[in-house]
Amino acid sequence: MTETNRSQWDLGRFVQTLTFFEVIPFIGWLQRFIPGSQDSQVVSTGEKRVGVVLVAGATGGVGRRVVQRLIDRGYKVRSLVRDAEKAKEILGDNVELYVGDITKPEITLEMMADVTAVICCTAVRVQPVEGDTPDRAKYNQGVKFYQPEIVGDTPEVVEYLGVKNLVEVAAQHFATVPSDKIIFDFAHPSEELKRIWGAVDDVVMGGVSQSEIRFVEDTALFTGNVSTANSGGFASVRTKNLEPKLNLSGYQGIKLRVRGDGKRYKCFIRTDTKWDGTAYSYSFDTVSNTWIDVCIPFADLTAVFRAKTLKDAPAIDPSKIASLQLMLSKFEYDGELNPKFTSGGFALQVESIKAYGGAKLPQFILVSSAGVTRPGRPGINLEEQPPAVRLNDQLGGILTWKWRGEESLRHCGIPYTIIRPCALTEESGVQPLVFDQGDNIKGKVSRDSIAELCLQVLEQPEACNVTFEVKAESSTPTSSENSFSHLQPD
Ligand SMILES: NC(=O)c1ccc[n+]([C@@H]2O[C@H](COP(=O)([O-])OP(=O)(O)OC[C@H]3O[C@@H](n4cnc5c(N)ncnc54)[C@H](OP(=O)(O)O)[C@@H]3O)[C@@H](O)[C@H]2O)c1
Repeated sequence: MTETNRSQWDLGRFVQTLTFFEVIPFIGWLQRFIPGSQDSQVVSTGEKRVGVVLVAGATGGVGRRVVQRLIDRGYKVRSLVRDAEKAKEILGDNVELYVGDITKPEITLEMMADVTAVICCTAVRVQPVEGDTPDRAKYNQGVKFYQPEIVGDTPEVVEYLGVKNLVEVAAQHFATVPSDKIIFDFAHPSEELKRIWGAVDDVVMGGVSQSEIRFVEDTALFTGNVSTANSGGFASVRTKNLEPKLNLSGYQGIKLRVRGDGKRYKCFIRTDTKWDGTAYSYSFDTVSNTWIDVCIPFADLTAVFRAKTLKDAPAIDPSKIASLQLMLSKFEYDGELNPKFTSGGFALQVESIKAYGGAKLPQFILVSSAGVTRPGRPGINLEEQPPAVRLNDQLGGILTWKWRGEESLRHCGIPYTIIRPCALTEESGVQPLVFDQGDNIKGKVSRDSIAELCLQVLEQPEACNVTFEVKAESSTPTSSENSFSHLQPD
């Protein structure tokens, strides 16, 4: 039989293909392949944080609220606590605990496994001097003043050496974490991953090309025979429709790690779940028998219907990726031929498909304190300052050591956010907030508000390397703005 002959079309394979890809929804499967993303929920910026969030000081007033909010939003959380029994009483039995003291050598990389962000809410213990209040009601701070004293470790040990210790371990860990997000890891394919991909050849249009995807040598091997008989000329492998759709907003594109045969292939990305609708295509050349990374920027994708370009189609929406497809086709676009096409056998090995160029997000969020730069500041009127500033010396230099802790974070090289709340209160609920920089504001803010702010910051690229003060909006209008988009990086 020659290529020009009419060849026997295979109805069986046609039906098989359609059955495989038939709109058989497979609920949430893809999410299981993204480490740590199981049960995670779409957050406001459209990005899904994967991995584990480590909360230090999880038994504290702010820390426990951060843990609860993270869990409520579907994050995986690891709570760093000093006392497991106390932690279980406060946080419940279903929270992952890591027992450790930030000032001790037990803070190691082991604690950081799969961690994508750290939220540090630790604090030296300050309590009213015994006898000053009958109930030692620390949480009335910001409402009523009681004479405070430090109990236990000194501020130097907790606020500086402890924070620095935690920062250094986090920096070591994040230096080893790749910034790409893995979508399909063919080096470690699960059974479900194998079931997502299937062959779609020109049999669907009457052709006789034949291909398959096999999982060999820690890769996916796309191989087969492409024929131009019956006006055909393509073979491909495609995912079933992903449900939910894959959200890659915040990334620049996808990266394929492939070893090919010198031929030119196409990658199609679809946001539409229709079998034969609009696709976004990118042609790439392989180098025979050589592993290469192919970066496919979302901005460089061409909207097509089959091999016809669609001039008026909108740009791809990377937050709604429904399926991916790899194809060897005789055609380039709009009747042009693929310059590297030959019919016959072909082989493309794929090791992984990743999203690359993700927006940088804060990896270490430190809850510090307003006032840390005020002790000793020339011209400051101590009478007008909050108690922690006035009593800084008496409290072992608490704010000065907090500032030193901040400095260790600012200089460690990982993306961070430093939140400096004014006096914390136990008022319930999230309040309208006022943000400022320069360490001048005074006021109060609820621990609930600070916990919520930690979660907001976690997903805000603009919050990287920013230090700011925050308080609840009072009835008196101030000149500060109540959004953190105007804040400047350090
Ligand atoms: N209070 C205020 O008005 C105010 C104002 C501005 C800023 N801030 C700051 O806001 C942050 C949160 O305050 P908060 O009131 O939520 O604090 P908190 O209730 O006093 O909690 C402090 C947490 O830190 C933990 N911790 C202390 N030393 C530790 C160590 N060596 N290793 C590991 N964990 C340690 C404590 O654990 P244990 O349960 O084991 O003791 C506790 O979980 C702190 O940085 C604080 O300084 C407070």
